[in-house]
Amino acid sequence: MKKIKLKKKVKNFLIISIVIIIGLIFGINKYKEYKYKQTNEYKLTEKGYTLEESKKIIKKLNDKNETYFVENDKNDFLVELISEKYFMEKYLYEYIDYKNDNKKKELNDVVAIVNVRANKEWYDIDTVKPTDLTKGNLILVNKFNYLDKDFEPEAITNINLSYAYDNNRVSKETNDAYVKMASAAKKDGIQLLANSSYRDYEKQEAVYKDYYYSKGITYADKYAARAGYSEHQTGLAIDIFTTGATTKTFETTEAFDWLSKNAYKYGFILRYPKGKEYLTGYEYESWHYRYLGESEATKVFNSGLTYDEYYAYYLE
Ligand code: DAL
Ligand code: ZN
Repeated sequence: MKKIKLKKKVKNFLIISIVIIIGLIFGINKYKEYKYKQTNEYKLTEKGYTLEESKKIIKKLNDKNETYFVENDKNDFLVELISEKYFMEKYLYEYIDYKNDNKKKELNDVVAIVNVRANKEWYDIDTVKPTDLTKGNLILVNKFNYLDKDFEPEAITNINLSYAYDNNRVSKETNDAYVKMASAAKKDGIQLLANSSYRDYEKQEAVYKDYYYSKGITYADKYAARAGYSEHQTGLAIDIFTTGATTKTFETTEAFDWLSKNAYKYGFILRYPKGKEYLTGYEYESWHYRYLGESEATKVFNSGLTYDEYYAYYLE
C-alpha cells in the first residue's frame, strides 16, 4: 500500500514539475517576444525594412537616429546611403534632404557633395569658417575654409630660378620637395617651371579682381579664389608649367604626364582635377599642385578623392 502511495506521489510530483517547466518555458518565450517587440530592430521591420536592413541600420546609426527612422515612414534609400563608403552620420539628414531635392543624383555623389559642404552655396555666410591651422601642411583652404588676412606661411623661400620664373616663393618644406621633384623630372628630360606660388591676401585680391572686372563674377569664381580663400596664400601651392605651355596646353605636355605619374611621390597632388568642379568649386586646373608631404599625398592619390573629400572624411 505504502509503495503504491509513494509511486502516486512521485507521479504527481513529476506531472506538476512538467507543467511548471512547460509553463515557465512558455512564459519566458512570451516575455522574450514581448521584449523583442520593444526593440528598434523589430520596430524597423514593422516599418518595412527587412531584418537584415534593420540590423544594418542599428549597427550604423546612433540611438537618436535609429529612433527617428522607427518613428517615420520607410526611407527608400536609407540603407543604400548608410552603406556608402564615405557616409558620415553627422550629415545624415543633409544627405537625405539633398537626395530628395536632387532625385537623379547617385548616392555616392550626394555623399561627396555634402561631405565637402557643396550642398551649400559657395562662400555661404553660414558655412564659411576659419580653417584649422593646427593641421599644418594639411590645412584645407577652399570656398568654405578661409585664412585670415594677415596669415603668412612660415619660412618662406624663393624657388631656385632653374625651376621657376622670377619671384616665386613657397614654404621651405614645399620648396625642398619641389626642387627634389623638379630635379628628378630634369633627369627624365622634363622641365618644370613654377609660374605662380605664394600670393599674399592683397595679391590674391588683385588676381581675383582682374577676373572679376574683365569677365564678371561667375567666371571669376570659377578660376580664381576670393582673397583669404586661396591655397596660394598658404605657401603650399605652386602653378607648374613648362616652357611654351599655357593654361590651355599644359595638360597635353610631357611635363603634365610626368607630374600625373610622379607628383605624389614628392608630396604634391593635383588640386583641381577634371570632372570634379562641383566638389572643388573650380574649373579643372592641370597646373595647380598642392604640397601635402609624401605620406598624405600618396594616400590622396591612391584614394582617387579630391583633397576636399579626403580632408572631410579622414582629417577634419
Ligand atoms: N586659381 C586658384 C583656384 C586660386 O586662385 O587659388
Ligand atoms: Zn594655382
